[in-house]
Amino acid sequence: MIDDTFADDAHHTAHHAAAGSGADDDAEAVRRDSDGVESSRANRGWWDRNADEYQVEHGGFLGDARFTWCPEGLDEADAHLLGDPAQLSGRRVLEIGAGAAQCSRWLAARGALPVALDLSFRQLQHSLRIDEQLGLPPVPLVQADASVLPFADGSFDLACSAYGAVPFAADTAQLMREVHRVVRPGGRWVFSVTHPIRWAFPDEPGPEGLTAVSSYFDRTPYVEQDEDGNAVYVEHHRTLGDRVRELTAAGFRLVDLVEPEWPEGLTSEWGGWSPLRGRHIPGTAIFVCVRDDA
Ligand SMILES: C[S@@+](CC[C@H](N)C(=O)[O-])C[C@H]1O[C@@H](n2cnc3c(N)ncnc32)[C@H](O)[C@@H]1O
Repeated sequence: MIDDTFADDAHHTAHHAAAGSGADDDAEAVRRDSDGVESSRANRGWWDRNADEYQVEHGGFLGDARFTWCPEGLDEADAHLLGDPAQLSGRRVLEIGAGAAQCSRWLAARGALPVALDLSFRQLQHSLRIDEQLGLPPVPLVQADASVLPFADGSFDLACSAYGAVPFAADTAQLMREVHRVVRPGGRWVFSVTHPIRWAFPDEPGPEGLTAVSSYFDRTPYVEQDEDGNAVYVEHHRTLGDRVRELTAAGFRLVDLVEPEWPEGLTSEWGGWSPLRGRHIPGTAIFVCVRDDA
């Protein structure tokens, strides 16, 4: 059962991957360093406090059992980035930063065997709520930090993540090594993140979001902090080249880099993702990788 322990104190001004759900009331947005311990603690708290509002705001777009990669609405049902959907049956899949496990539910409906992992207890409670409402067997859930995966080597045939964990983790080189370890040789790792170029622009859906104001090359984390300087929300930036280097160093081969275009007819906004900006600059990058040491 979902309990109502967490106060809904969210507002509507947050940044990047979580955009559209909220920042904490009086948090100050800065660019400064934030290590793995601080980032993990801050983001766990933020997602626990904001999960309810996030699911209310975005649950309709996400669907209870839809696998969409991004605010551009690219669905796995059409994109087949995990491979042929007809081959998903029986596959062990790890969804990383799963939120309410909407993608895992889509996978389970195709006969796959998903495990949904997330840092936030409250996000995972929403997964239980959806299963209960739909009368489905619960998606198996694990609460953990994606930087230290609690699974044996080679436990999964596939790993996937739709904006989960990767934008929030301080040491994504370590995260990539962990995913490489738990995916079997020959298995795929597919994940979507905010397109790195967006870090140069204000996170606004209107015209002000079309002028570059900061350096794409500045890897300093985006931090929201309270009046004592404690981080309450953190996102980490990597350039496209950084991501490729982290993936190849971990032992993955990059087989595709998908930059979904804003589709005709999609009018809904998600934070800084809008039809206007989508016409000019990419909003999402999806990395399709294979563990190549078969
Ligand atoms: C933008 S949501 C994406 C979830 C889902 N795919 C969706 O679109 O709603 C990001 C998720 O990543 C989770 N997360 C953030 N940092 C994480 C970490 N270090 N390890 C695991 N999950 C993390 C958050 O708790 C949150 O549920």
